[in-house]
Amino acid sequence: MIDNSLITETPEYKNLVTFELCKKMPIYNWFYYKEGFAPELVWNLLRRFEIPKGATVLDPFCGTGTSLLAAAQKGYNALGFDITPLAVFVSNVKLQQRYDVGLLKKEIDRISSFKFGESKLRWPDLDFIDIRKAFSRYARNDLLFFKEKIMGVDDKRIRNFLFLGLLSIVMEASNVKRDGGVLRIVKKMHLPPVRKLLRNRLKRMYKDLLRSEEFPGGIHAYARVGDSRILPMEKESVDFCVTSPPYLNWVDYTKIYALEMALLMNGDEIKRARSDSVRSYIGAKEPKEIRVDSEHLDELFENLERLPQPSKPPAIVKGYFGDLFMNLQSIYNSLIPGGKAAIVIGNSCLPNLDINSDLILAELAKGIGFEDEGIWSSNTRICKFPGMKNSRPVRESIIILKK
Ligand SMILES: C[S@@+](CC[C@H](N)C(=O)[O-])C[C@H]1O[C@@H](n2cnc3c(N)ncnc32)[C@H](O)[C@@H]1O
Repeated sequence: MIDNSLITETPEYKNLVTFELCKKMPIYNWFYYKEGFAPELVWNLLRRFEIPKGATVLDPFCGTGTSLLAAAQKGYNALGFDITPLAVFVSNVKLQQRYDVGLLKKEIDRISSFKFGESKLRWPDLDFIDIRKAFSRYARNDLLFFKEKIMGVDDKRIRNFLFLGLLSIVMEASNVKRDGGVLRIVKKMHLPPVRKLLRNRLKRMYKDLLRSEEFPGGIHAYARVGDSRILPMEKESVDFCVTSPPYLNWVDYTKIYALEMALLMNGDEIKRARSDSVRSYIGAKEPKEIRVDSEHLDELFENLERLPQPSKPPAIVKGYFGDLFMNLQSIYNSLIPGGKAAIVIGNSCLPNLDINSDLILAELAKGIGFEDEGIWSSNTRICKFPGMKNSRPVRESIIILKK
């Protein structure tokens, strides 16, 4: 059993495991993804573990590509997977290189100068939020109108850049607020028109691009839609893995980013992303029985069984650790012998129970064959279970593993 002695306090990583620093960083801030970590985390770990330049970095839950961009900027090849086409699209646009900047500027001016018109495109139906309430009639039409215009741009890189600009203003153009794990309809006063938001955003992105440097020669970095439980990776092809799986925080990513997904993806794609996501949220598919060796997990399951109804937690706790076990196996197979993995994970809670995901994952990893090098307790998060009166502080850690 992994015990608490493996845990060391590392407050120097506190700001590196959250998205906070990304908010002010060019390119990293092209899309607000609250669940992201900071590029400095990746740079720090690459230095600390002396990963040689040109090596390959993997992020199997790449989100909007922080680790991929950070690695590529410093001369590492980088490969990422995410289950949502939205996250993969954002990652890949951030990784695009070698624009025809003259043409880009022209297209930004052209798109920004369109007067409004009707679009033939339609929004997909979302079962949990009414698009007609989420946007004013004008914003609803304008977003589709600009999407249609952008889809008509010939140059693929420029089209993607413009489309990311549009996706990144969706929330600002809406009557919706992200509130923990849900979207709430709120009345926002004096919402700027989509056209103005888009023009300003594209100008800012363009400036960022002019100031950015190309990746060192020969470096490849990209993201793919894929399920981290069954990574399509060659054995022993990765030198270092840095990642952050969804936390067991009952949040469904396909709901929080539903409005952006609705602009980029069709209804079936959204459903598929939801059903293939790691089961970290209420409403996820019922878990299959998993057989993993962990005393922490056995103890947790015993405690779960003892909880009185109706506070009995959803069965997804089992599904969650089963999913992450599969992911750890996938990472193990893809790493070279001696290769390291750093996994950022937040612990979780139920009304009468703490769930130490970091200790459980370290134990699962050991069972797979990893050496556990430490659990760095880096930050404290507030955990709240839906319906729970009081929130509680829980640990956010970086688990360091070696193959
Ligand atoms: C904590 S976020 C990662 C954020 C990322 N580190 C960043 O800086 O943007 C977890 C990601 O896991 C993705 N995800 C959930 N289930 C997945 C699965 N089965 N396979 C791959 N990615 C998955 C979610 O879409 C989400 O983007």
